[in-house]
Amino acid sequence: MGRLAIIGGSGFTAIAGIGRATEDAPTTPYGPPSAAVSSAMLGGREVLFLPRHGAEHTIPPHRINYRANLWALRAAGASHVVGLGAVGGITPAFGPCVLAVPDQLIDYTYGRAQTYHDTTDSKVVHIDFSAPYCASLCEDLLAAGQKIGIEIVPKAVYGVTQGPRLETAAEVRRLERDGCDLVGMTGMPEAALARELGLCYASLSFVVNWAAGKAEGEIQMSEIKENVALCTGRIEQILAALTPT
Ligand code: HPA
Repeated sequence: MGRLAIIGGSGFTAIAGIGRATEDAPTTPYGPPSAAVSSAMLGGREVLFLPRHGAEHTIPPHRINYRANLWALRAAGASHVVGLGAVGGITPAFGPCVLAVPDQLIDYTYGRAQTYHDTTDSKVVHIDFSAPYCASLCEDLLAAGQKIGIEIVPKAVYGVTQGPRLETAAEVRRLERDGCDLVGMTGMPEAALARELGLCYASLSFVVNWAAGKAEGEIQMSEIKENVALCTGRIEQILAALTPT
């Protein structure tokens, strides 16, 4: 296999053991990625890392150049990509601090560059997206969790919203009726673009709050921050134990 790459979400502008890249981000045919791709030894092998929201966490979900990010990772030699994502929990099994490897998604985003096949001078391309995540990498993530005794929920439907605002309670009720367990803002078009590039992509999602209307009162940013901090150690352990097949 080629290399494993990790796309860091909220709380992950760097990963323990993987320093930040010092150089400027290289450009791609789609413009600059969120940051330069860094690489380091993690769990005994070289891993690539790219912070999705930029090195200083300044790029909101709808402004991320998803095409450039995945392009840059593939150019750096990635074959497998784990997208880390902080999410809200909708259904009862997905309370704060639960880790999940979603097996399905529903895309509610709009206005994002969704495809590399965006011209009118070549044949139209329709990727198969019945199963949006790479099954072998999902299995490998679950196996890594099992190996070190960290619980990961093996199936979930990830609803991807536009953001950057959080949802209304009615929007979350609709997501639940649609079958979503989790809600986040960055799962798409990342997963589809990875598929277009032939990258084996999976999401390791971590719940940082109950979605709007699922707990009393407003969603507090302080609560989200605390829960991100509570998740990072377990996520880093899983990534160190991960051996993509
Ligand atoms: N909604 C959307 N995205 C999120 C949430 C949420 O409640 N929590 C973390 N990312």
